[in-house]
Amino acid sequence: MDSKTAARKLNELRKLIDEHNYAYHVLDNPRISDEQFDGLMRELGRLESLFPELVTADSPSRRVGGQAADAFRPVLHGTPMLSLENVFSEGELLDFFRRAEKIVMPDSLLWVGEPKIDGLAVSLIYEKGLFVRGATRGDGITGEDITHNLRTIKSLPLRLRKTVSIEARGEVFIPKGDFLELNRSRERLGLPLFANPRNAAAGSLRQLDPQVAAGRPLDVLVYSLVSISGEEPPGEHWRTLQYLRELGLKTSPHTALVTDYKQAVAYFQEMEVKRDDLPYEADGVVLKVNDLAMQKRMGRTSRAPRWAVAFKFTAEEKITRVEGIEVNVGRTGAITPIAILEPVHLAGSVVKRASLHNEDYIQEKDVMVGDLVTVRKAGDVIPEIVRVVKEERGAAAKPFIMPGTCPSCGEIVHRLPGEVATRCFNPACPAQVIERIIHFASRAGMDIAGLGESLAVQLYVKGLVKDVGDLYGLAEGELSSLERMGKKSAQNLLESLEKSKMNPLHKLLYALGIRLVGERAARLLAVHFKNLHRLKNATIEELTCLMEIGPGIATSIREFFDQETVLGILEKLENAGVNFSEDTERDSIDNTLLGKTFVLTGTLQGYSRQEAKELIESMGGRVATNISKKTDFLLLGENPGSKLKKAEDLGVTIISEDELAEMLVQK
Ligand code: IVH
Repeated sequence: MDSKTAARKLNELRKLIDEHNYAYHVLDNPRISDEQFDGLMRELGRLESLFPELVTADSPSRRVGGQAADAFRPVLHGTPMLSLENVFSEGELLDFFRRAEKIVMPDSLLWVGEPKIDGLAVSLIYEKGLFVRGATRGDGITGEDITHNLRTIKSLPLRLRKTVSIEARGEVFIPKGDFLELNRSRERLGLPLFANPRNAAAGSLRQLDPQVAAGRPLDVLVYSLVSISGEEPPGEHWRTLQYLRELGLKTSPHTALVTDYKQAVAYFQEMEVKRDDLPYEADGVVLKVNDLAMQKRMGRTSRAPRWAVAFKFTAEEKITRVEGIEVNVGRTGAITPIAILEPVHLAGSVVKRASLHNEDYIQEKDVMVGDLVTVRKAGDVIPEIVRVVKEERGAAAKPFIMPGTCPSCGEIVHRLPGEVATRCFNPACPAQVIERIIHFASRAGMDIAGLGESLAVQLYVKGLVKDVGDLYGLAEGELSSLERMGKKSAQNLLESLEKSKMNPLHKLLYALGIRLVGERAARLLAVHFKNLHRLKNATIEELTCLMEIGPGIATSIREFFDQETVLGILEKLENAGVNFSEDTERDSIDNTLLGKTFVLTGTLQGYSRQEAKELIESMGGRVATNISKKTDFLLLGENPGSKLKKAEDLGVTIISEDELAEMLVQK
């Protein structure tokens, strides 16, 4: 192919890919299958590698730029990024409407209602249709240049559908379901958890290396057009939203045009009901005057426009007392302070504990033992302390002091420069050893049935198991003398231990709990190195040759196998007959569901969601949180949520638990 033909082909291909992205993200109406889409992307990559000189900055293949930024450059906003006035009750909303109507003619105001998304405000600049710059709000006057990170967001077009120059504004967020999945995978990797979706999104945008943002499920919704040249702008906000969609930008589908205060309240109530079903966190609705000329006449105060207001939802919050602050030592030695709360009913469950994450967090919130605090569920799941009721603080309130030594082993703990976590670095620390045993035996690890937390503690405390290498030397006599352990359960445990020896290497690798090595990395490493001894001796260079293994994971693996204690454990495991190799033939049997994506909804009867997920993954399938055109099957439990309707709309195959079971036996 000559360069001219290639240029023409590339151009067509990019247009086609942009079109399909638009249909998928903005119209929510995909026109081709995943495989077809991936095929187009592959073809693009192939042609671009043959003709590197023809690669353009707006090519869909170039979302992650080659280099990390060295700093966030300041960006002066052409128009300040304002806040919104908040109201918290119908009465306050009525006052706001009355004031607004006083400024302009009464009964002439139409309003647009939009969800108030709890994310990060961004400014997006397109020149002649190309995305050239994106910035944070900053102090409203000057923000920070985060173009490199925004480019990685798949729903943000790198090129508009018209060659206009605009500044649009919107909100970047992480969808709720993706947030839970993100935290689950961080937990498996021994990484600190994000407190809520907003923090996770903020943390992702605050990275110099766009590779980090590219790996996070960021999304964006656009809600205003600040300036435009090249075309006459619409005169109404409602029309503007429509116009932004025509340009290829994603806007919220949950907007409404309302004529008066009453309808505004009805919209608010409707959204409050829908709130839990929205894919993103919303903390209220925003009401904006529809007529843009009118908006201009109404003007602004120093911090907020007079033509818009945020009507905030009431988050269920409860007040309770901090009875104490405990510290917990995790598998990787991180020491996490946890508030022990007077039990309180909150959004459907009893909350007794809330993570306080680290020293800085406690300081920022100024939490002391004995304080009354308001609690709520972040992302509607994880309890968090919102604030301290300072007025109620008694003289007896006691500040928390991070212990200087590990509560488990007594060794001096350290907080490394630049890290928020305080850690215990003693590899023989009992709390860490026990956590490692539990992890080793977990389902995704060696899957040793009957070896849970209470047994792990007993085995360690009785001195029967000092590290996971000792597990395979346990004798029936030793076991049956333990609490709640009869002869039968001892035999069962020995049987599951025996069975676990035959696990393929990837399970063993995950079970060893190497920092940053999750299930996926474990699989990749096992399939590539085939044998633990080869992996054990691999250099950083050999490791990073593998796709998806970056320098961080590689270093962590190297450091792991450089430890004398680790080598000792491996020797014990090998002598006990634990399998150290990946049997590729077995692997192919396990791949019944390879390439298939599942989404789960409702309550499953046969297993927990985590079990279902692991089962599907162990057969090579993938479990996603949200239904999309990429979904192959929806696994339907009882009382399904809104995913069912979405699956029906997209024509996704819906299966029952029994049907899943059948798929698995039909290997
Ligand atoms: S309008 C001048 N619309 O709320 C008008 N803001 O409290 C300002 N936000 O910084 C923005 N959803 O980050 C607008 N539909 C929406 C919004 C929204 C979320 C955020 C935005 C802004 C903050 C103001």
